[in-house]
Amino acid sequence: MAIILGIESSCDESAAALIGSDRTILAHRLAGQEDAHRPYGGVVPEIAARAHVQILSPLIEAALKDAKLTLDDVDAIAATAGPGLIGGVMVGLVTAKALAMAAGKPLIAVNHLEGHALSPRLADASLEFPYLLLLVSGGHCQILRVDGVGQYRRLATTIDDAAGEAFDKTAKILGLGYPGGPKVEALAKTGDAKAVPLPRPLLGSAEPHFSFAGLKSAVLRASQSGTYRREDIAASFQQAVVDCLIDRLEKALSASAQESEMPRTLVVAGGVAANGAIRAALEALASRHAMGFVAPPLWLCTDNAAMIGWAGAERFALGLTDPLDIAARPRWPLDPAAEAARGAGVKA
Ligand code: KG4
Ligand code: ZN
Repeated sequence: MAIILGIESSCDESAAALIGSDRTILAHRLAGQEDAHRPYGGVVPEIAARAHVQILSPLIEAALKDAKLTLDDVDAIAATAGPGLIGGVMVGLVTAKALAMAAGKPLIAVNHLEGHALSPRLADASLEFPYLLLLVSGGHCQILRVDGVGQYRRLATTIDDAAGEAFDKTAKILGLGYPGGPKVEALAKTGDAKAVPLPRPLLGSAEPHFSFAGLKSAVLRASQSGTYRREDIAASFQQAVVDCLIDRLEKALSASAQESEMPRTLVVAGGVAANGAIRAALEALASRHAMGFVAPPLWLCTDNAAMIGWAGAERFALGLTDPLDIAARPRWPLDPAAEAARGAGVKA
């Protein structure tokens, strides 16, 4: 069994994990920075990078101690090399390079999105390629066909905001604070999803792309009108997101149905995949299409280092390691061949 040290620092979570190629999670440590960012209502890149500098090294030491291992026992060191907030990414990647050089171990530069994309395979050994992936996080909202490690075809992306961004903005508008997704979900449980008329951007449009900017503005207007209860806005917003995700996936499925080899499994990953209403709707969609459905456990949906260690293990098994001079990348699409979506602010 190969043992991989995984390091994550692309946003506001510092994380370190030790993962076995047989899917054993030997250790995983996570240190959020919520308190540092809360006064600003969102992640401040400069504060995040400084916090990673302080937190990462002791966190890696703690993870090694948890696993009762030393660096000598590790076969390779994997770190997020992008996309993300570049200061934080550089801190994690440079840390990994230093450890790799000092211990004489190979470096694996992991695409954070590949970490999310392969994370369901860490939790579920029976999940094989190919699968249809809905990747929904704070920075991305994409439908991908996953054919193998490093083999991604993007079928859809957002033309403006990501779904997680819309959750975070809605939380801010409703005064729920940061981080917003789980708070909106909790409040939505007590609200009426039909109470507030909100738009479903791009619903029914030909290409399966997403758009959430208009929904965000509609939430702001609904809130400012003073007409609606907060819980009803939260519930109606969440339902609008669910409706958009399902409609766009239906579109992607109907388009790929003409292809001879349509994946038979629907998979969801990324922070927003922790949302119970979204998971339930996706499971129902998969069942309507007689597809399997796989969603990672909640802790593996939001940013963590276990998924980076696992992506490292998958790459290491294929002999895919990287030179020590590899650069950190603020943008790094999983499918570089995909065209920019119409109107896209091009998130990756
Ligand atoms: O994957 P992730 O941890 O970080 C990125 O790579 O972006 O995703 C974070 C996003 C945030 O926007 C957060 O609000 C959202 O995931 N999120 C949720 C839930 N938990 C986290 N959104 C909706 N419902 C949740 N339960
Ligand atoms: Zn992420």
